[in-house]
Amino acid sequence: MAIDVQIFESEQELDRKAAEWLAARVRPGAVLGLATGNTPIGMYRELAAMHRRGQISFAGVRAINLDEYVGLSREHPESFAAFMEEHLFRWVDIAPEDRHIPNGAAPDPVQEAERYEKLYWEIGPVDAQVLGIGSNGHIGFNEPGTPFDSVTHVVELAEATRIANAPAFGSPEAVPRYAITLGIRNIMAAREIILLAKGASKAEAIRRTLKETPTPEVPASVLQTHPNVIVLLDREAAKLL
Ligand code: PGA
Repeated sequence: MAIDVQIFESEQELDRKAAEWLAARVRPGAVLGLATGNTPIGMYRELAAMHRRGQISFAGVRAINLDEYVGLSREHPESFAAFMEEHLFRWVDIAPEDRHIPNGAAPDPVQEAERYEKLYWEIGPVDAQVLGIGSNGHIGFNEPGTPFDSVTHVVELAEATRIANAPAFGSPEAVPRYAITLGIRNIMAAREIILLAKGASKAEAIRRTLKETPTPEVPASVLQTHPNVIVLLDREAAKLL
């Protein structure tokens, strides 16, 4: 099935559409696959507003995040656990025991990845998966070259990723070197996937993702082989299509 690609004139329209898409899939028992990064912040803001207005309840929903930095505890302000707390969890009624994210502070990251893989299959597969994309085409922290059949694993972050994420840490060197990420196989197990991309820095990755033959060199290109994907782009991210 061809990927449904939608292009938006404003960031707010894109955020609203993404929030409506996810909200339509929120029901007791639903498993949501959640992502961090700058891109989905507006979507989370819209979801929090919908919840505040009484339009949606997340009661009975289970959330499983894509990834976390190795070495950062949930209390670290740049951890993805802290991100989720700040941008979504504190505003909505997902029960604390139903919010899952790899433990970046686990003493043995490899064992933690194994635990998270097991957890994924106990809870999942995911019904609705939210994804951003790296300028190098990564999804989750599956960097270029990651096999399409990868499961949850410890990854050494690509230089491009550490540069992209440097502002929050002060410098690329201060960005954690490793992360735990769901694998591409986990991501592809989701029943439905929404990929969000904003800005010119994503344009080339989006072009390769949608137009080139799927290759592990562009991890997001695997989505061409998924039956149910929607891609929301702003004009800048779509400019090379
Ligand atoms: P961003 O990150 O939303 O901050 O651009 C996306 C990603 O790296 O997957």
